[in-house]
Amino acid sequence: MRRTTGYLVAAILLVAVTAGFAAPDAQRQQELRYLLRHDCGACHGMSLKGGLGPALKPERLRAYTVEQLADTILRGRPGTPMPPWQPFLSAQDATWLAGFLKQGKAP
Ligand code: HEC
Repeated sequence: MRRTTGYLVAAILLVAVTAGFAAPDAQRQQELRYLLRHDCGACHGMSLKGGLGPALKPERLRAYTVEQLADTILRGRPGTPMPPWQPFLSAQDATWLAGFLKQGKAP
């Protein structure tokens, strides 16, 4: 009996944790891909190979964790043209974008 309760608690915790880190839904992912190409691309290049801002390719981004990149996206880099995206993106959006860039999934 006690064992069953333990499993139940573990299952509930797992669901809660997974939900907390869930990716944005499909429509939001579509919007974020569009933003990446058109807004981020304005500085980082349409194919993210660099322009005014550096290339956002996985080889370069390997030096950073997803958390660090999400932080850069949300807060920008003060003193550089990299603007803070906090007004437009949630932490979840930024984390998803950071992972997307690190995996080299962006075109
Ligand atoms: C107005 C131009 C501009 C726009 C728009 C812009 N960036 Fe940047 N970004 C920069 C510049 C310039 C840097 C380099 C800052 C520095 O010198 O540290 C940078 C740096 C970064 C970095 C750190 C890269 C590294 O190797 O240090 C990331 C990640 C990043 N931008 C992501 C984004 C994302 C995602 C978007 C769109 C949501 C975006 N940027 C939009 C100009 C821009």
